[in-house]
Parts: sequence; C-alpha cells; structure tokens
Amino acid sequence: MHPKQRLENHFLEQRRVQFDFSQTPEHWIYDNPFATHLINAVHLILPVGELWMCRSFNEALPYVTDEKLRADVKGFVHQEAHHASAHKVAQDYLRYYGYEIDEFISSLDMIFKQLNTSPLGLVLSKKLEYRWLTIRVGMASAVEHFTTMLGTWCLNDKPWQNKTADEIMSDLMTWHLAEEVEHRSVAFDLYMHLCGEENKILAYLQRQMIMMAVAPVFTLSIYQCFKKLAQQDKQAKSYSSYGLIRALGQTVIENARTNQVPSFLAVFFSLRHWIKPNYHPYFEGDTMKALQVLENSPAVKSLSKLRVC
Ligand SMILES: [Fe+2]
Ligand SMILES: [Fe+2]
Repeated sequence: MHPKQRLENHFLEQRRVQFDFSQTPEHWIYDNPFATHLINAVHLILPVGELWMCRSFNEALPYVTDEKLRADVKGFVHQEAHHASAHKVAQDYLRYYGYEIDEFISSLDMIFKQLNTSPLGLVLSKKLEYRWLTIRVGMASAVEHFTTMLGTWCLNDKPWQNKTADEIMSDLMTWHLAEEVEHRSVAFDLYMHLCGEENKILAYLQRQMIMMAVAPVFTLSIYQCFKKLAQQDKQAKSYSSYGLIRALGQTVIENARTNQVPSFLAVFFSLRHWIKPNYHPYFEGDTMKALQVLENSPAVKSLSKLRVC
C-alpha cells in the first residue's frame, strides 16, 4: 500500500502543552554535563529553525492542490510553531542558570532570515522563486529525516527515563520527538508535490544535493550550540575545547556508555535510507508508537484533564 493511503485517516493536531522548568536542575540529565549540553543545544537552534520552516510551508500552501496534504501541512505548521514556543521557555531555563545565549540566538536568526523568500536579499524571477521554495521545503524534509531518526531512537530506547533525568525536560524532549515521528512524512510529501509527479528524477537528484549541504550544516550547527553552552559551564568546560570530530566521537562513546545521547554514527548511517530512490519517511518511524507515547506524556495528559474540566 502507498504511504499516502496509509496516512489518509490520520490528522495532525496541535497539542498546546506547557512546561514549568522552575524545579529543573542545571544538569537535567543527572551527572552528565556532556549529554545535558548536547541535548540543550536544540533549545538554541530549534525555535528559529522551526519558525523558518513554518514560513516556508505557509508560502507553499497556495500551491497545494491535494486536500489531505493541505490539512497535513497546516497541522505540521501548528505543531512546529508550538515546538518553537516550548523551546523558547527552555531558553528561559538556560538564562536562569546564567547562560548568555541572546547574542548567539540573534545571529542564528539573522542567518535564517537570509534563507527566506529572497535568499541573501536577491530578487528572484517567479520561476526561480518557485524553485527556491522547493529547495527550502527539501531542506526541511532533510532535517525532518534526522528528527524522525532521533525520534525513533527516543521512542525505542527511552534515553531519559528511570530517574536518570529531570522528568519535565525529559517530557518536553519526548513529546517533541514523538510529534516529529507523527508528522515525519509531511515535509517529504510537500516537497514531492511541489516538484510534481512528472519530475521525479529531478526531485530525487535535487534532494540528494540538498542533503549534501544540510547534513554537514545541521551537524555543525548543533556542535556550535553545544559548544556555546558547554564553554559557560565549569563542569563541562573540557568538552567545549573538543573539536568537531572529537565531539562526534564522544557521542558514540556516550551512546555506548549511557545511551543518553544519540550516536553520530547512527545518524550518519541513517542516510543510507535517504539515498534510496524509493525512500519515504513513512517507513522510517512508527506512528502508533508515537501516539502511544504522546498519550502517556504528563504534559499531554494534563491537557486532556483541562479539556474535561
Ligand atoms: Fe519540531
Ligand atoms: Fe518536525
């Protein structure tokens, strides 16, 4: 059965969960500053990155002729927008512990602004503007490949459970990654729709080129965010002197030791799926498992209680 048919009955909903980090310790993955800062790196980059995706997807909406895909794109935008809000609250938690992050976040914001409708301020013809839109959605699809892979790891391995980490931050990360698995196909389906059925080969070649750019930039960005945080923490300062390769190696060691961070090697080898001509994110994750985990999330449960009241 085609993935599209399998997902026909599933509609994405925005779960407006709230998190209170007032009791969350600085090293929320207990006794593990490396893992804490690596996972906290996403609080810096995701709000700007996810809102950038939302803008691109909203621009793409007028070109979507399939009703189910339109609903999926809207659901995706609502979910991503709330992810961004939740990670902004986590930014306040970092500020509370004295981390200076504002200048860094502003510079990330400036970079993403250069990737909007007019890249680097260039005025594009209508045809190029459309091509650039397909590329931006393709970039989102490449990032979603990684978030799906990380989400699947989180749902399967439950890295921050059994009292090894703060429950509230663990809930934020698990809720987010479960929704990443839930909406894993939307960016890819939108990309293929924008490229058009008749341009499958071009769409394939373009998405491979996009990944060649996105994979190193994504890795480097997370590394820079990690470094920015680790260098401000006395207990993690030694990690901030790690170069990119050593930090990536440390993820492999830490994954084998505690499984509290994803291994870079697993992320890298997940690209073997992306390069397949018949790649579809549907086959990269388990929607039922994501929904089960979401049902058991304390933040999602408290939403249902509010609804009942
Ligand atoms: Fe997200
Ligand atoms: Fe996502």
